[in-house]
Amino acid sequence: MKICCIGAGYVGGPTMAMIAHKSVDHTVTVVDLNKARIDAWNSESLPIFEPGLDTIVQASRGKNLFFSTDVEGSIRDADMIFISVNTPTKTYGSGSGRAADLRYIEKCARQIAEVSEGDTIVVEKSTLPVRTAESVKRILESNSKGRQFQILSNPEFLAEGTAVQDLEAPDRVLIGGSQCPEGLAAIQKLVDVYASWVPREKIITTNLWSSELSKLTANAFLAQRISSINAISALCEATGADVDEVAHAVGTDSRIGPKFLKSSVGFGGSCFQKDILNLVYLCEHFGLPDVATYWNSVIEMNDYQKHRFARRIVTTLFNTVSDKKIAVLGFAFKKDTNDTRESAAIYVCRDLIEELANIAVYDPKVTEAQMRRELSLATDDTQLTVCKDAYEATCDAHAVLLLTEWEEFKALDFERIYRDMHQPAFLFDGRNILDLNALREIGFEASGIGRG
Ligand code: UDX
Ligand code: UDX
Repeated sequence: MKICCIGAGYVGGPTMAMIAHKSVDHTVTVVDLNKARIDAWNSESLPIFEPGLDTIVQASRGKNLFFSTDVEGSIRDADMIFISVNTPTKTYGSGSGRAADLRYIEKCARQIAEVSEGDTIVVEKSTLPVRTAESVKRILESNSKGRQFQILSNPEFLAEGTAVQDLEAPDRVLIGGSQCPEGLAAIQKLVDVYASWVPREKIITTNLWSSELSKLTANAFLAQRISSINAISALCEATGADVDEVAHAVGTDSRIGPKFLKSSVGFGGSCFQKDILNLVYLCEHFGLPDVATYWNSVIEMNDYQKHRFARRIVTTLFNTVSDKKIAVLGFAFKKDTNDTRESAAIYVCRDLIEELANIAVYDPKVTEAQMRRELSLATDDTQLTVCKDAYEATCDAHAVLLLTEWEEFKALDFERIYRDMHQPAFLFDGRNILDLNALREIGFEASGIGRG
């Protein structure tokens, strides 16, 4: 088959690279409007950082994997088209701040209707509100000129930082489609693509709406676990319990399980908040305000956690951070990615900048331009300094905040950091990855989320 993917982002790029790598019989072309992004995919320096991605891209690029800006040409030739454009939260009009902005999806559907030539399978890869396929179908059919379109939903469950691993050995692949004979045949074609490397029993097929809703539900459940443990972290701080010990004790119950119970300064990333807001909006739309309120509280708890962390820093630093240097280690929303979308670090830095602190940030993968954009700070704004390493960031600082769990932070020479800081030296571990007792022995006044 000729496969086209519209959108060369964090999802489209790695997913298509894996399909090309594993299903050598298919030719995969990833297209994007953004020329700089496509140029980067065609260069030695890929536009996104993911461990292991370089190797699989290099193995297939130019053979059966192509990156191009020729959107129309690639749509015209394709037997199967994945739509993997972004679906941000709407920032205007009705549903602003909650509903998903579907303008890019609609644009893609119109473009496919206009230029595709034969019968085509259109696969929704982007995360979408339930029943979006209905709108996509109507757009395609209103201009079908005798062509047959089948719409499938195939949400992506990869997590950033482990994308290659998740794509190579997924917990499951989910494919939803119409249950009519043509729909089932289209489902089978996509099943065959994945079956090149995914065991058949891990490929789940459902109707369209179940597939669309399962993605939102999976993300909502994952985020809910983090908000639940973060709520308990506040209680731990008040009572002297240790949230890591509580999470361990709770997570060993096989009905609960140990994953996604790590208390933190708050979840970030492009998906959790956006998808829950979307779920909340859908519940309201379908007349279920109590269900909407329930899921919205997951986001409220996350916001509470980010601001609570920043407030605690100010209180601990004798109620003022004005003109103090605060070192921030980590800006990405989690380790092993250069992605900063909705990173907790943004919110914590903003709160501290508002309190007139001077922020010195070090992150191994995030560029200065990216940080300034996220914090809406001009290039000459001196409230932010971006440092080349953790030692430069912490030198002369009053406090160190650890906001991303990069492995390299665990191996830092904290005795040196302590010596070079203002005394008393405070350390706030927003990810609970450091040994607080050892830090206290060095002399730090150290605290972690839910650990006093
Ligand atoms: C994806 C999914 O598509 C989103 O629904 C999911 O919830 C999160 O992950 P992601 O790959 O992270 O989005 O988005 P992004 O990295 O922004 O990539 C989207 C790409 O689509 C961009 O490169 C953008 O230039 C491109 N695009 C967008 C088009 O090529 N055409 C358009 O009309 C709109
Ligand atoms: C998530 C889903 O995991 C993935 O299945 C979906 O396809 C996209 O959204 P991602 O956002 O890339 O993936 O990362 P994830 O590992 O889920 O982490 C999200 C945020 O939660 C990060 O900020 C992370 O630090 C935080 N987190 C995660 C916690 O605070 N505690 C945990 O126990 C786990």
